[in-house]
Amino acid sequence: MRHLLSIDDLGTDGIEEILRLTDSFVEVSGRNIPKVPVLRGKTVVSLFYEDSTRTRLSFETAAKRLSADTMTFSVGTSSVKKGESVRDTLQTIEAMGVDAIVVRHGSAGVPVQVARWGTSAVINAGDGWHEHPTQALLDCYTIRERLGSLTGRSIAIIGDIKHSRVARSDVLAFTALGAEVTLVAPPTLLPPSLDGWPVKVSHDLDAVLPTTDVAYLLRMQQERMTEALVPSLREYSTCYGLSTARADAMPGSALIMHPGPMNRGVEIAAEVADRPNATVIDQVRNGVPVRMAVLFLLLGAGSTLYDPKPEDATSDDTVPDDATPDDVTPDENEMDGSAGA
Ligand code: CP
Repeated sequence: MRHLLSIDDLGTDGIEEILRLTDSFVEVSGRNIPKVPVLRGKTVVSLFYEDSTRTRLSFETAAKRLSADTMTFSVGTSSVKKGESVRDTLQTIEAMGVDAIVVRHGSAGVPVQVARWGTSAVINAGDGWHEHPTQALLDCYTIRERLGSLTGRSIAIIGDIKHSRVARSDVLAFTALGAEVTLVAPPTLLPPSLDGWPVKVSHDLDAVLPTTDVAYLLRMQQERMTEALVPSLREYSTCYGLSTARADAMPGSALIMHPGPMNRGVEIAAEVADRPNATVIDQVRNGVPVRMAVLFLLLGAGSTLYDPKPEDATSDDTVPDDATPDDVTPDENEMDGSAGA
């Protein structure tokens, strides 16, 4: 795997491989020193043209736990403000020597273009309405952690499907792992065509919830709306919000998920978001080891994992090309915070 642009790049086997590898990085994350030197000497750049809290911090944490160096690009303080194009920005960054670029952009397809133009590994961190593959991977990991398996599970994705890259990646990933997905939304918040989507559709949330294993809420993505698609947020919330009463109508073992950021009181009641079966914080926590697994697969496994200069190499610090995270030990020398600055 050279890039991660879509869940389709992985297929079922690729998703399974990342989830298996994530188990190892969960173990690493639980250590006193949650760091391994498998990507020492590699540089990972966050190229974010859109706002982010979770995804950007999660990738940067993941890269640092693998001992990669990190660079952060913020549009608001960059020469994009002076009219620099994506391609010129990419070439400028790559000229400094980078190995992976984590791209978020408001337009679908930009990560694909970056992968075509550049020489680095590219990870799609969310492009327009298109995809957000690492969100789907961490969602799969979280469901497995809580429910054991996705096979045969009923998952309702509720809300603004039309503008949601999370929904697109989740549908691909959840169904690849054997779940049955129902999209629940008013017609105006569904894509114009669902041809080829392996899903059922409902406009009646109350009919769906009593038999659902996972209620996956989406916020109204107003930054991507060009017209009023619901009469008001209050009416939307009345018809499609996960209220206390609706959450009570779900099976006791059912999960309540949300990719964040949440709009409490709109798509989800404030009290419901804090219930023990709400996994919002688990999803964030799992995002770090999932992204460690992705970076490791793109930059580590199958290539040179740990490539000390010949004069530095010793029998202790040479890691074989087919090493796993279990084969390497924490690098205490890099725990002073200087690495990855
Ligand atoms: N879930 C998600 O992508 O959150 P951020 O926009 O904060 O990265």
